[in-house]
Amino acid sequence: MIQEGVCVYPGSFDPVTNGHLDLIERATQVFPRVIVAVLNNPGKQGFFPVEERVRLLAKACAHLPKVEIDSFQGLLVDYMKKVNAGIVIRGLRAVTDFESEFLMAQVNHQISPEIETLFMMTSPQFAYISSSVVREIGGFGGEIASFVPGSILEDISTALKKAR
Ligand code: PNS
Repeated sequence: MIQEGVCVYPGSFDPVTNGHLDLIERATQVFPRVIVAVLNNPGKQGFFPVEERVRLLAKACAHLPKVEIDSFQGLLVDYMKKVNAGIVIRGLRAVTDFESEFLMAQVNHQISPEIETLFMMTSPQFAYISSSVVREIGGFGGEIASFVPGSILEDISTALKKAR
């Protein structure tokens, strides 16, 4: 049975950025319960281990009581069923995001029509921010203070510097 008012914001969050956090905060204005779910994809390792991404998200969202952080493996629609949620939230930064997001929403709808995908437009000041930009800039020792939440800036900068 799908629980009303629960949404899932899935993603890689490698690492969480100010753009993600903005979306999470705005989702809490609309939904009483927001589950942020980190994809654990054994086929694609990423930079930060999944447990660290979860930890960073939890730290960045500590001020948001409606938010829970989790991770999942496999299909998103299966995870949605596991947590009895019917709404997927995704952010759109620019038209370039549209094609892949449209495809993903269509595929998910095809295999699980009861699950609805809702899109929120990224706030303009975060439109250029992505996890890969954070890794690229931070990896070369550049300033990432305006890209990631202040509460986890040190964690991310230190990890990126160590990997140089
Ligand atoms: O932050 P990202 O990398 O854009 O997030 C993509 C994510 C995790 C939402 C997407 O890859 C996903 O849901 N993966 C799980 C596998 C799945 O359900 N695939 C079917 C949809 S195409």
